[in-house]
Amino acid sequence: MRGGWSKTFAVVGAVGLLAVSACGNSDDSGGGDAAANKDVTVFTWWADGGEKAGLDGLVSEFTKECKDYKFVNSAVAGGAGSNAKQVLANDLQAKKPPSTFQAHAGAELGDYIKNAQVDDVSDLYKEFGLDKAFPQSLLDNLTVDGKIYSVPVNVHRANVVWASPAVLKKANIDATKAPASVDAWIADMEKLKAAGVKAPLATSKGFAEEMVMEVVLLAELGPDKFAGLWNGKTDMAGADVTAALEKFKKVLSYSNADREAIDWPDALQYVNKGQSGYTLMGDWVAAQQLSDKIPETAYTYWPAPGTAGTFQFLADSFTLPTGAQNPEGSKCWLKVSGSAEGQKAFNTKKGSIPARSDAVATDYPKYQQAAMADWKANKIVPSCAHGAACTLGQNDSILSAMGQFSSGLDVGVLQKALVAAAKPS
Ligand code: GAL
Repeated sequence: MRGGWSKTFAVVGAVGLLAVSACGNSDDSGGGDAAANKDVTVFTWWADGGEKAGLDGLVSEFTKECKDYKFVNSAVAGGAGSNAKQVLANDLQAKKPPSTFQAHAGAELGDYIKNAQVDDVSDLYKEFGLDKAFPQSLLDNLTVDGKIYSVPVNVHRANVVWASPAVLKKANIDATKAPASVDAWIADMEKLKAAGVKAPLATSKGFAEEMVMEVVLLAELGPDKFAGLWNGKTDMAGADVTAALEKFKKVLSYSNADREAIDWPDALQYVNKGQSGYTLMGDWVAAQQLSDKIPETAYTYWPAPGTAGTFQFLADSFTLPTGAQNPEGSKCWLKVSGSAEGQKAFNTKKGSIPARSDAVATDYPKYQQAAMADWKANKIVPSCAHGAACTLGQNDSILSAMGQFSSGLDVGVLQKALVAAAKPS
């Protein structure tokens, strides 16, 4: 977010338009036919657990502040929008947009802008005082050709390991300290295996594996070279990338065999139930633990090994879709999303920190207080898996490469796919 990387890729995401059956608590209204017209259909993938708790927080503010309108939940379950994104693409293609949908700040938002699927909301920034509320770096990240197309509701951190002190104890590993490097982490996972822990690292399909790969690349290449992978400044075909991918392969070898069959909350359960020592996941885990009432003493967290001092970020934002049936209702949702009260109601439950600069740290749980401090002090790099650095089309390519890699474990094939995905087209 420091170096204008968000504008680097002039790629329009070629999102597959396959029909996927929506699950979760979608009422399947799509939004286009919303009754005349109080309904505000809000499209997210925050269907369950801590994510839903965050959304509920926002809804409670909306209900207070937007009395003329009715919230309609169009959530489609599946981590990181694994199902939702295709459903949304279908609705947008069919010109049946919801009243608002979540999109990641950065390259992913750029996709919707290039496809003329979202309206300029710059005027609302002035009207709601949002031009003063957010840090300039985030505003820069959201601005395309002088215009802003969404309202950020949070900042999440991607490079976090969640660990079980009870499991680590089995191999006499000090859970309070992060291993200093990927190699040190591998050594600890070896110790856990020797102590009888079959899958020291719990992970899950698609984007979760992509996140593990990203943190290994980040640790091995360092923040500047890592950020350069997605803006053309670092050679994705380089020998240092090959070496890092070999380490990623090694790290993956310590993970659960059913990783292609489960989603991130299941992987977290492996840690909570004492079957695995670690899971690498964004800090929506903090929200899930809160919602599952897991006591803070039962788990610990630190930056992924070798990435201390770097905050790998992503930001969720809400849009005003072009042709939305009830734009005034959408605007009321955006007003609440950007407000101090809305961000507090949402982020205290969502594991993320507010995008606004005026939040009061002591209003937040312990995890978010630490994240707020790191957000200020750390070096910031973008997440590819969560749309800050990579377009939807790039992520589609990376996700299919990940699926192939998970079974074939061929570093050469993976690197070739990454080289192709990283190229602006
Ligand atoms: C991310 C999103 C987060 C969280 C996560 C897991 O893409 O930005 O808010 O929902 O997916 O589903």
